Amino acid sequence: MSHDEFPTDQPAVVTCGLPYANGDLHVGHLRTYVGGDSFARTLETLGQETAYVSGSDMHGTPVAVNAEQQGVDPEDFALEWHEQYAETFPKFNVEFDNYGHTHDETNTELTQEIVKTLEDEGHIYEKEIQVAYDPVADDHLPDRYVEGTCPYCGEKARGDECDEGCQRHLEPGEVEDPKSTITGNPAEYRERTHKFFRVSEFSEYLTEFLDGLEGTSNAQNQPRQWIEEGLQDWCLTRDMDWGIDYPGEEEEDIVLYVWVDAPVEYVSSTKQYSERVGSDEYDWERVWKDEGEIVHVIGRDIIQHHTIFWPAMLEGANYNAPRAVAATGFITINGKGLSTSRNRAIWAKEYLEEGFHPDLLRYYLMTTGGLQQDVDFSWDAFQEKVNGELVGTVGNFWYRSLLFAYRNYDGTPDVGVSPDVEDRIEGAIGEVREAVNDYSIRGIGQAATRLAQFGNEYIQRHEPWKLTDEEPEKAAQVIRDCVQIAKAVGVLIAPITPDKAQALWEQLGEDGAVENARIEDALEAPPRRFAEPGELFEKIEDERVDELNEKLADRVAAAGDDGDDEEDAAEGSETAGDTDDDSDSDDNDPAGDLEPLLEDRIGFGEFQDLDIRVGRIEVAEGIEGADDLARLEVDIGFESRQVVAGIKQLHDLEELPGEKIILLANMEPAELFGVESNGMILAAGDEADLLTTHGDADIGEKVQ
Ligand code: 2FM
Ligand code: ZN
Repeated sequence: MSHDEFPTDQPAVVTCGLPYANGDLHVGHLRTYVGGDSFARTLETLGQETAYVSGSDMHGTPVAVNAEQQGVDPEDFALEWHEQYAETFPKFNVEFDNYGHTHDETNTELTQEIVKTLEDEGHIYEKEIQVAYDPVADDHLPDRYVEGTCPYCGEKARGDECDEGCQRHLEPGEVEDPKSTITGNPAEYRERTHKFFRVSEFSEYLTEFLDGLEGTSNAQNQPRQWIEEGLQDWCLTRDMDWGIDYPGEEEEDIVLYVWVDAPVEYVSSTKQYSERVGSDEYDWERVWKDEGEIVHVIGRDIIQHHTIFWPAMLEGANYNAPRAVAATGFITINGKGLSTSRNRAIWAKEYLEEGFHPDLLRYYLMTTGGLQQDVDFSWDAFQEKVNGELVGTVGNFWYRSLLFAYRNYDGTPDVGVSPDVEDRIEGAIGEVREAVNDYSIRGIGQAATRLAQFGNEYIQRHEPWKLTDEEPEKAAQVIRDCVQIAKAVGVLIAPITPDKAQALWEQLGEDGAVENARIEDALEAPPRRFAEPGELFEKIEDERVDELNEKLADRVAAAGDDGDDEEDAAEGSETAGDTDDDSDSDDNDPAGDLEPLLEDRIGFGEFQDLDIRVGRIEVAEGIEGADDLARLEVDIGFESRQVVAGIKQLHDLEELPGEKIILLANMEPAELFGVESNGMILAAGDEADLLTTHGDADIGEKVQ
């Protein structure tokens, strides 16, 4: 089934994977919640009725184990973290319409109701299974209370997930060589009766569901493979006290598995929102039971839960199916895996205490990684992004346009916008629409920044400061155009940097909130008069970055980093790449005449230093006097680059304009035959086979 493009006439709900209420929030969490927030805000800008909800995940062994270690009651423990999260998210402008938690009454009742329906519909049965047991502690060992070896990939695994290996969900009894995490002793397997959900019966349904599922490609491809391998039924209960009771069996010492009640919180949280604002304004039942657009934003380690178990539960209980699952890539810090135990993380609290505005981090995370791409965070890259794009491009354009307009016209010059500029703004609006429908937050941010870049080039090209005396009408026209571009950039960038866009909005003398503006408002004239503007972004100095790098290095050292990164390629078990590496080849002599492979490996950080972009050749011509060299002009989204390439004899230059190519953009400039080369086109082999992309990567997209 294919879906209508956003905006549709149905209400949407954007949800974010629930954080376990068991520890401090860090940049790894934020990239997902900011991602969901930016996506939901953009949908609203397009006129899509949208709710953005989530909540804290209070149950399960991730919470119980940590509470036990601290000797506190799991409910008190989880509630404290929940309150902290509810306070922290708004500090990053992550504004949920409802942020609940899984232990409240709404979720308890709804979870039990859904399980009851599954039971009534014949989707649940009882089975005797072997569960891990610690004879010394005299206790059962559900999930994180047991560790062992994954039966599928042989890696070390937790009781319910292969977090360091193949990422599969593991059923009770599956982990091999089980060991108790309570006492460290080998665990025994003992027989117990548990409830099972007949997931295997949903294989056909799920295959069809995946055919229509939108979102990121990783969330569509991995589950197909799991279905092909054959789905197993899913154990819904656990031998523990902390959790939601299986309906009707309160007296038993089993509770529902945390992954049953956690996604139900998506529905419960929407219900709470609906009850608060009234169902005339937002009807949760319409969304979840009828015809809503359900979009799940999650970490990529929990794809299986959101594309197999959860849609099967929804279908089995007669609920609506999700429209999209967008799974974020993984996050590294200075090229190494984020590790909370090694203190190699950027903590939410720490970031705020350093005095940085939340919008800077939002912009960094969203335009570096967006939803699907991996993100490497380093203070250096953060500084470069902020100084280059926010200060140098967006802020610079906003300030110089508004200041010029204020000084010379007391605000917006009283003329209409040039048709060319209107077209350029419409183009940017189109890019945003396309990006939303591709679940590409990065595309949204880039559309806004590219428009600001266009604005800078426009003002530079027309030099209005030289026109005010001689050609006042022309000067007024240029500035009128620039003020409109500035406003449009504000509207487009608002979902990513809401405070900064609001500040611009106010500088333009606009009423109300930019978050209530619609994307078409980018083309509406700003008020005729406005006051003197101020600069909205501030440069981050090198000394500041040195200081932050030092602090981070010191605390990682204090936490005892041994420099061995193998075991912490990414926190939250987001290590597994998409499992599409079928590169084994049967060729007899794979090496042949090929250059030998280099022995020296480079780190992810070093790779990140290469700014490789998708470009499009605009001009290709030979360089006089040079037999092999051609001069190319290549559009790389932000600008057009002149590049000299040794391809004159190898390609028909006339055929090249329009070709999509790959360019190393931060190659040091060089001069060849008097022509400056500002980048390097990537090509393979003696015939200079030009590299390209085979999907719909936009011009300017980074190759990574
Ligand atoms: O993996 C986790 O962090 C879980 N707490 C996510 C739950 S998402 C959902 F389904 F509720
Ligand atoms: Zn595994």
